[in-house]
Amino acid sequence: MMSRSRPTIDVSACLLDPEQHPGPGPLCWATVFGTDHPVELEVGSGKGLFLASAASQNPAHNYLGIELSRKYARLAAERVVRLGVSNVRVWPGDARAVLARLVPDASVRAVHVYFPDPWWKKRHKKRRVFTAALLASVVRALEPGGELHVATDVEEYFDVIRTLVAAELRLVELTVPPCKEPEHDLDYLTNFERKFRIEGRTIHRALYKMT
Ligand SMILES: C[S@@+](CC[C@H](N)C(=O)[O-])C[C@H]1O[C@@H](n2cnc3c(N)ncnc32)[C@H](O)[C@@H]1O
Repeated sequence: MMSRSRPTIDVSACLLDPEQHPGPGPLCWATVFGTDHPVELEVGSGKGLFLASAASQNPAHNYLGIELSRKYARLAAERVVRLGVSNVRVWPGDARAVLARLVPDASVRAVHVYFPDPWWKKRHKKRRVFTAALLASVVRALEPGGELHVATDVEEYFDVIRTLVAAELRLVELTVPPCKEPEHDLDYLTNFERKFRIEGRTIHRALYKMT
């Protein structure tokens, strides 16, 4: 019988190997991307819809997705390779550690945190990615005028994030531009945004800028 498995896609140009960057020094973006274009980070990039859309719409920016799940990191890299864009890299690993240890100071144009896992149970809340420590890393990483974009369907988590950011005087809140009406299946910010908008859930969004 013929095999139905899909041919393996070579993701080596997109999916980074943390073993090749053992640290402890920070990453060099020009080495990671091969250009010195502005860098945007996505924390928890899932299957990579945002990375793929943003990178094809903004070819003069570089995008790094940081994704804890190896499986999703690979899926995101496959999506990007299939699309044929060269300005995306995916780092399989914990965004908290990457931001704390490997991102150079004031080197990032934007950080995107979309639909972070809520970890509802009290004993699991420490697994949440958006904490005071992550915010401190984001503030250190952003260049002057750099942006932090957040979206979540979880009101309680959104309140936590807004309270944390409100205490950080270097970030000012901006009005979030209205989101466009999707015309097709890939016309959403992320996979989770698509799911939640179709379900009719309220989505909480915030945008902050570094002074
Ligand atoms: C609810 S999904 C959202 C994925 C994507 N942002 C979206 O909106 O479709 C949360 C993602 O964050 C990833 N994640 C959770 N903790 C993380 C961490 N500490 N570092 C990086 N990724 C993380 C999960 O593996 C998962 O893919």
